[in-house]
Amino acid sequence: PRIVVLISGNGSNLQAIINASSHSPPSDSSHPSLPADIALVVSNRSKAFGLERAAKAGIPTLVFTLKPFKDQGKTREDYDDELGRKIATEYSPDLVMLAGWMHILSPRFLAHFAEGTMLNLHPALPGEFDGAEAIERAYAEFKEGKISRTGVMVHKVVPEVDRGEVVCKREVPILPGDTLRDLQTRIHDTEHGLIVEGIRKRLQDLGFTMS
Ligand code: GRF
Repeated sequence: PRIVVLISGNGSNLQAIINASSHSPPSDSSHPSLPADIALVVSNRSKAFGLERAAKAGIPTLVFTLKPFKDQGKTREDYDDELGRKIATEYSPDLVMLAGWMHILSPRFLAHFAEGTMLNLHPALPGEFDGAEAIERAYAEFKEGKISRTGVMVHKVVPEVDRGEVVCKREVPILPGDTLRDLQTRIHDTEHGLIVEGIRKRLQDLGFTMS
């Protein structure tokens, strides 16, 4: 199966997918835990470090920025429509994975892909901290003594931000004395395992053999 990954920054989650897939030399004789091909990595920011990670792994990259559209008086929806069309027609992915993609995608992007073939990774549990700064907002509630755990989820992408059927999720404890950095690190470590699990599960449900 062919996966297209969308990023905006560091790309540590992209790296987790690369490490599990056939794009990186198997660390040992075991076959990759994700028998899939990353056909393309897209970034909406030309400076995203994740682009270097993709290039190092020999994966094609596409920088697709909003500025040219703005300069031509076009809208974000025009951007979404053109990006969706380009990915769908030129790469025909079986799955699109939003991994640290910090740009709300309109229905005009989603319209280019079959229902259930686009996933998003979000560093919170279903319905808890939708939207940006999820980790920071969970940490603030921890400091107010309101919560002692948060989590991470992979969900299907639907027009409402960070909603959509949950594919997999994992709770992440917040420990007494944790700094924000401690929580961020624990969350990112959890993400790196969960994103591969979520892709495997969805591809299996779509009929691909993931043994
Ligand atoms: C991660 O917490 C991801 O869930 C969020 O952006 C952060 C950066 O991810 N959406 P990455 O290191 O760029 O993969």
